[in-house]
Amino acid sequence: MQKGLVVLLAGLLAVVLSTVATYARPGKRYDKSTDTCRILTSGKLNWDSDHWGKGAQKFKEVCKSCHTRNNDKGAKFLYMESFSSKGWNAIFAKKRKKCAQDGSWDVLSKEELLAVNDYLYRNANDTYDPNDADTCG
Ligand code: HEC
Repeated sequence: MQKGLVVLLAGLLAVVLSTVATYARPGKRYDKSTDTCRILTSGKLNWDSDHWGKGAQKFKEVCKSCHTRNNDKGAKFLYMESFSSKGWNAIFAKKRKKCAQDGSWDVLSKEELLAVNDYLYRNANDTYDPNDADTCG
């Protein structure tokens, strides 16, 4: 093969790979309330790990104590894919939703709220990627 062609193919491959990477689950999250960049890929990512376990667990324990299907609390059914990553970030940054205002979130510490936000951000409705090993196994 000619050298020029090899270079061209390598370049194309790089473009394809970087496009795929763009659609992978987000590895970072800018958190407005603390003005920090949270790294979502370091450490153990299984559900038993302290951080992920906490985010998922607190979402179920607190948020889902109201936001289940057919609840009698007047809360809409919510699950992690109810919003996009950006949508979840805005919900946690602005804290304007009824339940954030009326004290229903107060049982969660700041750190726990960040963990729930991280969990939802990473598993939102726009983060699924069938080509990402992180998503399918
Ligand atoms: C004590 C019950 C209760 C708890 C706990 C609770 N919520 Fe709510 N939430 C409500 C009610 C009631 C509303 C207003 C009705 C609605 O929009 O679902 C609401 C509204 C919302 C909305 C707006 C829904 C929309 O589509 O506009 C979001 C998002 C939300 N809550 C997220 C959360 C999150 C995240 C948590 C956990 C940190 C949480 N809620 C905990 C009762 C609760």
